[in-house]
Amino acid sequence: MTKSGKETRSIPNYSEALTLLHVLRVPWNVIKHSILVASFAKRIVESLKNDNSIDENLVFAGALLHDVGRTKSHGADHGIIGRKILLSLGFPDRLARVCETHTIFSVEDEETSNMLGIPVGEYLPKTLEEKIIAYSDKRIHGERILSSVEERYEYWFKRFGEQKVLVKGLKICKEIEKELAVLAGQKKQLFVGKVRWA
Ligand SMILES: [Fe+2]
Repeated sequence: MTKSGKETRSIPNYSEALTLLHVLRVPWNVIKHSILVASFAKRIVESLKNDNSIDENLVFAGALLHDVGRTKSHGADHGIIGRKILLSLGFPDRLARVCETHTIFSVEDEETSNMLGIPVGEYLPKTLEEKIIAYSDKRIHGERILSSVEERYEYWFKRFGEQKVLVKGLKICKEIEKELAVLAGQKKQLFVGKVRWA
């Protein structure tokens, strides 16, 4: 969707999405993070091969592009900004939404809204593709692969305190983990070990 509201592009493939990261001048450390997120997401997708309903291309493109909003802000609003960027470039909203929903923010009151600098609303992953990307992102801190999502949230709890929005984010993340594990046939190896580059 562009400013005129037109959807003029389809979901990019992996190399097109990589090129777009460079064209949009996404910082190199964010690109490396995004490649790792895509790599982790790939492992999950591979484990869910029996689920033909997954749009693999959407997962990989979304994983690579989820942080494009960081070209303008490193704050909590980078998800909303990223969605606007992709829509303005004419991409479908099912790709743009990934930027907004990977934050796993449920902003329920004005206090949280003012703290994060984003409007009250639910920025939560709903589709399987959105869930895979949001979960993978929480397992990659910068360029470091974490052994659990708890590790990620513990870092935030120490930095920002046990804010309601973070406690809820961790709860949702654990629910996503459970859902993915069930879909993957409880393959525990899915959630541990090293991640290879895509
Ligand atoms: Fe992000």
